[in-house]
Amino acid sequence: MTPPNLGRPTDDWTGSLLAKKLVEHSPNRQVHVVDLPWRLSSWAWPIAGQTKFWSTSNGDLHAWACLQTPFWSLDYATHPDAPPALTRELLSWADERAQALVSTPLGRPMWFTFAFADQTDVIQALEAAGFEPQTTAAEPWSMVLMRHDPSAIGTSTPVPTGFTLRPLAGASEVAAYVALHRGIFNSDSMTEDWRRTVLKDPSYAADLDLVITNPDGELAALCVGWLSGTGPGGRLSGQIEPLGVASRYRGRGLGRAIATECLRRMYAKGALDVYVETDSHGDAALSLYESVGYAVERTVIVLRKDYQPT
Ligand SMILES: CC(C)(COP(=O)(O)OP(=O)(O)OC[C@H]1O[C@@H](n2cnc3c(N)ncnc32)[C@H](O)[C@@H]1OP(=O)(O)O)[C@@H](O)C(=O)NCCC(=O)NCCS
Repeated sequence: MTPPNLGRPTDDWTGSLLAKKLVEHSPNRQVHVVDLPWRLSSWAWPIAGQTKFWSTSNGDLHAWACLQTPFWSLDYATHPDAPPALTRELLSWADERAQALVSTPLGRPMWFTFAFADQTDVIQALEAAGFEPQTTAAEPWSMVLMRHDPSAIGTSTPVPTGFTLRPLAGASEVAAYVALHRGIFNSDSMTEDWRRTVLKDPSYAADLDLVITNPDGELAALCVGWLSGTGPGGRLSGQIEPLGVASRYRGRGLGRAIATECLRRMYAKGALDVYVETDSHGDAALSLYESVGYAVERTVIVLRKDYQPT
């Protein structure tokens, strides 16, 4: 499916900043915290009918939800003081919207959502709303939040001879970035509008938006680092999202070089913890992250709900 060319209607970041603030209020309850700007720059946010905010009578934001079509994901957050009934209302709204969208370009035949394995109350609420944990599915899927060991960072690994590591050259390189991203992840969800929106996000740091070029100057690898003061007392945390290497250049050290340089830069900017989220099964990404000093901190349960056209 070719993504709709929606773009962000205005440069109004109010909704994103409120959503981010709610998530940062209780970061341990949320799977996406530091990398949230990446997700909130997507072309599904903040489309009416796809995104909803719930406020208390005095105007405080108590919940938000977004059917994130490019991620096939229901992203949401609730305030810790929000009553369980609000979560049920949110999930009921998402269910109604997912069914209404199923035959449109914004719909999906299945939606996924995520919860930490120790959040039994959250998982129970999702199961009650019809989501099924994929831990025991025919093709099991779960994820992990990994935290980097700062003592594992030394100097960054050099790039192979002929390749160059540098920041993305801003908007002029967005089209090349999108082509690389789509190839790496075998998906056309990434769009130029989305990537241009990322460049304008208030928490975007151009010097953490890294690429590696091949000897002809073409993009071969990408890695974006995010920073957010989400820990106790505003403790600065970092996260890598996304990271990838073009398939023809894999296994040559590009992934390690761009990951270690991004980590080095985040620590140099004051990050005290640096995270990444990835699939839990033993694939190349998990091995790469372990090899540069990451270790699993929390298991993330993936839950799925299917929809049929009526
Ligand atoms: C994961 C990925 C970035 C690795 O990039 P790469 O350039 O091939 O990795 P490197 O050559 O730098 O390898 C570094 C380490 O990663 C691990 N690794 C890389 N490829 C691997 C593979 N196919 N199987 C197992 N481990 C692998 C190894 O630990 C390796 O260290 P070693 O060479 O000492 O054995 C690349 O496979 C990729 O882009 N995959 C698709 C996108 C993706 O999954 N991104 C991560 C999403 S969170």
